[in-house]
Amino acid sequence: MSNAKITGYGYYVPEKVYDNAYMEQIVETNDEWITQRTGIKERRIAKDNEYTSDMATEAARMALEDAHMAAEALDLIIVATITADYHTPSCACVVQKNIGAAHAAAFDINAACSGFVTALAIAKQFIENGTYQKILIIGADTLSKITDYKDRGTCILFGDAAGAAVLEASAEPGVMAVDIGANGADGMKLTSLDLKADAEETEKRVGKDASKIFMAGAEVMKFAVKIMAEAASKVVAEAGLTMDDIALIVPHQANTRIIYGASKRMGISDDKVFVNIQKYGNTSGASIPVALYEAVKSGRAKPGDKIVLVGFGGGLTWGAAVLQI
Ligand code: COA
Repeated sequence: MSNAKITGYGYYVPEKVYDNAYMEQIVETNDEWITQRTGIKERRIAKDNEYTSDMATEAARMALEDAHMAAEALDLIIVATITADYHTPSCACVVQKNIGAAHAAAFDINAACSGFVTALAIAKQFIENGTYQKILIIGADTLSKITDYKDRGTCILFGDAAGAAVLEASAEPGVMAVDIGANGADGMKLTSLDLKADAEETEKRVGKDASKIFMAGAEVMKFAVKIMAEAASKVVAEAGLTMDDIALIVPHQANTRIIYGASKRMGISDDKVFVNIQKYGNTSGASIPVALYEAVKSGRAKPGDKIVLVGFGGGLTWGAAVLQI
């Protein structure tokens, strides 16, 4: 049986920056509060005519180049997103057209900020069971298009980005273990509504933009710290390892308090945790793959290192994976 190994990494962030000084101009907030409560300094924001598929395409091209692979060689494209350009065609189909991956199947998945790890779990199965040999997975979101810039409890958190990885069948260890989960019973703690507007949800949004993200922040934070620690510990054990074997944790970049709260519970020291939230904020599906790209390309994660990816998000969902780089 082949292993699924990442052979190429890519990312894209838009040029436009909303720094904390800009956020101070649009809502009642300040740099000190945002920095202390979240760790965020800046977010990247897509242009009005720039969409998730545009960012996903850029990240995909970079990952393919990094893997020295032609798009025609791909068997499958999975895009993890909650902000696809259209209900249909999927973002993955738009990317397939843009990059010319004529032989690839393509579909989107919705697991919010856990999306990239969920896509990794799917890709691992397809490669290990021999169905496919070359898979492109992308996490991409333009949260700015569904963010309420009058709600200071959410708008200071979110940004736009895309991250991509090419997976190939390999004799070397790659994705060693994956664990994903969901708790739909608490799903309405973090929402972005669409076709259905039920009375209870409408009631909660009086005075707010009902088409944008709405969140019970403190409750989501409590859930996140606990579930990230549990999921990471579980997946490390499933890989037959202990936390001492792990060179780096690459967590979903939601809030530094969540990240360090979870890593403390895992028994991991801060220097083994990759953080880039100060530059991008929370970019949902893109958060983990962009951090993974930077961790690998900066040398924080070196060839042969065993690392953990771990995230949580809307659904509520979570996911963790152990990779050998
Ligand atoms: N600037 C200044 N004050 C703010 C503020 C802002 N941007 N946002 C909220 N506040 C205020 C609140 O109104 C509240 O004031 P009050 O005590 O007078 O009512 C106070 O700060 C504390 O608010 P609270 O919501 O309890 O803060 P918190 O410590 O929970 O931090 C979040 C708020 C949103 C940063 C935090 O809950 C969080 O990160 N949650 C997880 C969100 C997340 O990751 N979501 C995405 C999941 S993928």
